Amino acid sequence: MTETKYWPAAESQTGLKEAAAALAEGGVVAFPTETVYGLGADARNTDAVQRIFEAKGRPSDNPLIVHLAHAEDVYELIRSANDIEKTLMSAFWPGPLTLVLPLKEGAVSPLVTAGLDTVAVRVPSHDLARRLIDASGCPLAAPSANRSGRPSPTHAMHVMEDLNGRIDGVLDGGPTGVGLESTVVRVTDGKIHILRPGGVTMEQLKHTLGEAADIIASQPPAHAEVGAGQQAEEAPRSPGMKYAHYAPQGEMLLVTGNFEKMAAAAQEQLARARSQGRRAAVLSCQEHAAMYEADAVLEYGSRQSPETAAHKLYSLLRQCDELGIDFIVAEGYPETGIGAALMNRLRKAAGGNELKV
Ligand code: TXA
Ligand code: MG
Repeated sequence: MTETKYWPAAESQTGLKEAAAALAEGGVVAFPTETVYGLGADARNTDAVQRIFEAKGRPSDNPLIVHLAHAEDVYELIRSANDIEKTLMSAFWPGPLTLVLPLKEGAVSPLVTAGLDTVAVRVPSHDLARRLIDASGCPLAAPSANRSGRPSPTHAMHVMEDLNGRIDGVLDGGPTGVGLESTVVRVTDGKIHILRPGGVTMEQLKHTLGEAADIIASQPPAHAEVGAGQQAEEAPRSPGMKYAHYAPQGEMLLVTGNFEKMAAAAQEQLARARSQGRRAAVLSCQEHAAMYEADAVLEYGSRQSPETAAHKLYSLLRQCDELGIDFIVAEGYPETGIGAALMNRLRKAAGGNELKV
């Protein structure tokens, strides 16, 4: 057990100083970003990075993202960047875009990259995150600050729920903005592969790179496991995509398709589950909420705002666990804008359980 220091949002000046000092000394500290809370450690310090994997219970073959305060510092970590990568950096940094780039050998601990010859880098736009990285003087390796298999934390209290007693501290910066993780991109042979959809949307990438750009959306494997041999021939993957993620404790069913028919179909599923004695919850847009009878009706916000649903999703999934829900029906959203990342996370949480109406 480690005593976990909690620095409240109101005392962020003191918290920032103490958290930065802890990181500089090889500590492991959770901090807010514009996407989700990260669990940071000095990316050059193998012992510190090892503690991230232990605290999360994360498989060691799943590499970490390195967070920088300033875009120009990327050249300390990578061998080179091509024109497309440079365009993406200047358009989206600081912001929720992670680029997978050729690693400069020895720049970070091999644990960070899981032995790969690439490194994932991003420059968060959250002010407290950037000030913390700056003050620590370290490039910070930081995965999401949840126990492996739990939804990513969007509030400091979520981090405490998962990691209290396992890390050195939590810097509270209030709820995070986007609520879903960054978009992970890798450019190879002029093609832009989206390894994980996230805070930067396909539409934004097209707007920046032009309609003619060869942007390839990620194809998550149908099953949780990807055979090791597959990796070599196929488009580069994010190793993390093969792990079942974001799963609530209860079984989950995603309902997609016709918006008019969705609520009736979802209600039927809820009624059946409850007749079997199960505790059933629904994740509903505000417009449908009054139509449901369930043990819990949890609202995403207006159907017109997938941003609000993205912002709230992980919190709602945690709420289901707290309420002891064992069956969740979730309404799907159109897959445009942030809706693409939202649906990617919903599908993972539902483990592929989907009802199309
Ligand atoms: O928004 C975010 O990205 C958050 C905040 C804290 O910055 N971080 C985050 O980290 O989501 P994590 O560890 O939960 O997800 C990192 C993803 C994983 O899917 C991992 O496999 C992938 O990035 N990744 C890291 N290094 C990679 C590499 N060299 N090549 C391919 N994928 C990589
Ligand atoms: Mg994560």
